[in-house]
Amino acid sequence: MIYRQIGNSGIDASVVAFGAWAIGGWMWGGTEEKASIDALHAAFDNGINLVDTAPAYGFGRSEEIVGKAITGRRDKLVIATKCGLVWDKKEWAAGKGVFHFFSNEKGSTTADDPKAFRVYKYLRPESIITEVEASLKRLKTDYIDILQTHWQDESTPLDDTLAALIKLREQGKIRSIGCSNAAPEQVAAYCKAGLDVDQERFSLVDRQVEKNKIIDLCRENNVSFFAYSPLANGLLTGKITPERKFAEGDLRATRPRFAKENLLKVSAMLEKFKDIAQQNGLTYGQLIIAWTIGRYEKMHALCGIRNANQAAENAKAGEVILAKDVVELIAKTADASGIS
Ligand SMILES: NC(=O)c1ccc[n+]([C@@H]2O[C@H](COP(=O)([O-])OP(=O)(O)OC[C@H]3O[C@@H](n4cnc5c(N)ncnc54)[C@H](OP(=O)(O)O)[C@@H]3O)[C@@H](O)[C@H]2O)c1
Repeated sequence: MIYRQIGNSGIDASVVAFGAWAIGGWMWGGTEEKASIDALHAAFDNGINLVDTAPAYGFGRSEEIVGKAITGRRDKLVIATKCGLVWDKKEWAAGKGVFHFFSNEKGSTTADDPKAFRVYKYLRPESIITEVEASLKRLKTDYIDILQTHWQDESTPLDDTLAALIKLREQGKIRSIGCSNAAPEQVAAYCKAGLDVDQERFSLVDRQVEKNKIIDLCRENNVSFFAYSPLANGLLTGKITPERKFAEGDLRATRPRFAKENLLKVSAMLEKFKDIAQQNGLTYGQLIIAWTIGRYEKMHALCGIRNANQAAENAKAGEVILAKDVVELIAKTADASGIS
């Protein structure tokens, strides 16, 4: 496993991370606690030391499961969580924050769902402090290695948010600062205050952050980049066929990306990588993860992992360094593939 320093923090984290959204169950058709804990343990046993979770993943469930799995190994792990998506703070949200979407326990929903509640982007200092205390409890720890603002709240001055994050770092409750789902100008503003990590969607078929220069911004400021959904929600493993039936509440059930026509395009693209994968002894999923971490020298791939087999398979990709011309060839082939 390759390890890289998070920003300038002195924290070393594995290039392949355990993305803990799916084990929260929310938007992923439910979760099974034992399989999730086994998956986390298998990840740790295979060299993964970085876990990315969030309070919103299952409304506390993902953090609770991570908290159970890290008992006895906390000091060897790098725990990243988030703040700024609130769902149970109607009194704060009223007139403040930015409405994000309606959700129920299973996933996003519409206003007419009787079980719907509102999820807000909300980054006021007092809310961040309260959120961190709740996360520490669920994670059964007394510090968070990386705290990331989950979504950006344009109703709160960034300086106020940053003041809270810096105070938490001074108190030792968090060790480094990250942001997520931020526009380039927002990332630039965070950089001025000392950003360690930016977390954005990035995969072979989602390369917006290369086009809008966020990756360049990270490089100029020695900021780590966390690629979320590096397998495009599993699409790029090549294991999802048109016959796959997703569980109720699994976000993939309604995404056009998982419609038959697109799945066939993905399969045709992956077929073009067959020789490269075979020469390197990799599955398609491993090749895609290796491509991701080969794209920037401070890149980490946050792979969603649901069971021990996926943990072991994905971790292996964290040992692979692909030649630069291979990384470029894969990118060009994807550009020509017409995958949405
Ligand atoms: N900051 C944000 O707003 C944000 C947003 C999204 C994600 N994230 C982070 O990024 C992480 C990963 O994102 P993601 O879960 O969307 O996507 P992903 O890594 O692109 O895909 C994960 C899914 O692919 C399948 N998979 C993974 N490894 C596999 C393997 N070896 N073989 C076969 N299937 C495999 C699993 O689903 P099945 O087994 O069910 O097919 C898994 O749940 C999240 O957990 C979270 O930490 C952050």
